[in-house]
Amino acid sequence: MFHRVVFLGPPGSGKGTQAAQIARELGVPHLSTGDILRGAVAAKTPLGRQAESHMNSGGLVPDDLVLQILHERLDQPDARVGYLLDGFPRNLAQAEALGKFSSVERVVALEVSPELLVDRLSQRRTCPKCQSVYNLVTKPPKVADHCDNDGTALILRPDDRPEAITTRLKVYAEQTAPLLDYYRRRGLLRSVDASGTPAEVTGRIRRVLE
Ligand code: AP5
Ligand code: MG
Repeated sequence: MFHRVVFLGPPGSGKGTQAAQIARELGVPHLSTGDILRGAVAAKTPLGRQAESHMNSGGLVPDDLVLQILHERLDQPDARVGYLLDGFPRNLAQAEALGKFSSVERVVALEVSPELLVDRLSQRRTCPKCQSVYNLVTKPPKVADHCDNDGTALILRPDDRPEAITTRLKVYAEQTAPLLDYYRRRGLLRSVDASGTPAEVTGRIRRVLE
């Protein structure tokens, strides 16, 4: 099995859903730059204040901020055994920077049709406290509108509003999709059909990580 893994995929492709499960199985930390940034926004740290407007509009947070977060996180002892990166890298500059401080072993590209992405994102609800992810249709909470873990009222992420979804899909196509070729040329890319049930997708991912 590989232990330094990147999940690449457009917004709503299921990176977070799949990374939580696969990271447990690999015994490596699940590192989501989006989750770390949302935590900083909620805690109103200086980083959060700088990141918030970029995130809410659906644009990328500047590279220097994100690279600093990632460096600090990969320096933690639990990341010595490996990592599963979800949402990083997101452009060529970030991929080059990652390549300088770690050697990625596998990049898994999650592929989903644009219509399905928009459905999943508009139906998603998130816990603002523990960041658990639900879906009104495919993964509803046990008690309507409340988190199963801590009972907090669920929210629609500010960037899951229609205007921000459109921007995120455009940013993905322009800035992140070129990484598919970047990693394909290096022999690291494996594409996975990410439609179907979460369990079906998990099975496909396991096969490309063996
Ligand atoms: P980030 O949090 O990374 O968001 P994203 O890439 O837009 O991806 P999402 O979290 O929206 O989707 P996902 O693929 O994780 O899908 P999920 O599993 O939740 O980034 C947010 C923002 O932070 C960025 O826009 C940017 O501003 C900033 N940022 C983050 N990293 C950055 C970086 N490196 N550089 C610069 N800026 C950065 O699933 C979606 C929904 O579908 C859920 O409701 C889920 O339950 C459901 N679902 C999942 N799989 C299935 C399935 N198989 N069947 C049915 N439903 C499913
Ligand atoms: Mg996510």
